Amino acid sequence: MNKEALKNTIAQLFASGKGLLAMDESTDTCNKRFAAAGIPQTIEMRRSYRDMIVTTPGLHESIGGAILFDETIRQQTKAGVPFADALIKAGIIPGIKVDMGAKPMAGFPGEKLTEGLDGLRDRLEEYKKLGARFAKWRAVISIGDGYPTIGNIEANTHALASYAAICQEAGIVPIVEPEVLMNGNHTIQRCFEVTEKVLKLLFYKLFVYRVVLEGMILKPNMVIAGTEAEEKDNTDTVAEATVTCLLQSVPAAVPAIAFLSGGQAPQEATEHLNAMNKNYKGQLPWTLTFSFARAVQQPALEIWKGADSNIEEAQKLLYQRARMDALASRGEFTGD
Ligand code: 13P
Repeated sequence: MNKEALKNTIAQLFASGKGLLAMDESTDTCNKRFAAAGIPQTIEMRRSYRDMIVTTPGLHESIGGAILFDETIRQQTKAGVPFADALIKAGIIPGIKVDMGAKPMAGFPGEKLTEGLDGLRDRLEEYKKLGARFAKWRAVISIGDGYPTIGNIEANTHALASYAAICQEAGIVPIVEPEVLMNGNHTIQRCFEVTEKVLKLLFYKLFVYRVVLEGMILKPNMVIAGTEAEEKDNTDTVAEATVTCLLQSVPAAVPAIAFLSGGQAPQEATEHLNAMNKNYKGQLPWTLTFSFARAVQQPALEIWKGADSNIEEAQKLLYQRARMDALASRGEFTGD
């Protein structure tokens, strides 16, 4: 394994306060978002949407890498350029989602286990040829009555660590994503406890499976109350809980932590990230940045609505949101 090459990729991804754009929604998820916005759920619409994203002028100023879905990495832009090549030309490193989705875990009602380890080594070789230099695997941990269980956390962290080791062997930087879901009415304290447990068990597994921490990216949730919680915490409280939890659980050798947005409103996600970088400036051992999907894309998707005539306006919104998040990753977002 070439550790230096992995480290170089990570340094390029996050150079000058940039973050990642997750545009790797599975066909089902993408179709759900299209349906909600009144957009036809066709392969051509998904291609056009991703075309609108990657051709956004100036996107590379805030986005160092974009995560693609299998369908997209095999498609071409309107100009006839493969998506990965179009990203490279735009100064953005292409990445790829390699898990096969979270499925109900047998014997564990309410919990899910992510699949996709079979054949992963061969798939990575193919993705590498198509231009991918980093990958993503998402595990989901649900909070509910009686869960998460240790069995579910064990199974998901086993898969995450196995995937990460296979990626590093292939020279591909793994994004390790253990997402504690926001669904539910749990408090911020409960989210803290679960996130801490998951991260500590995850880093134990990563150690056992010989994953090189310097050559990986962690993509966690922020520590935040559930979407149906009675009380909503203020920005500084979320920032403090998240940073405290990460400091207690994530080794300093990990170069970068890039958050998912998890259903937070775009502005909320930006403000939380900004508060962490502003309030804890000089006290964080890792780069703290973003790898948002919804929080960057949603406003643009709602304006685009599948019409060519809306592309320019949608791209402006996408550019702006990405710029705000890049400012937040330096603690310089002022709300203007
Ligand atoms: P959200 O930012 O919409 O949570 O998506 C991030 C992601 O890539 C989930 O895997």
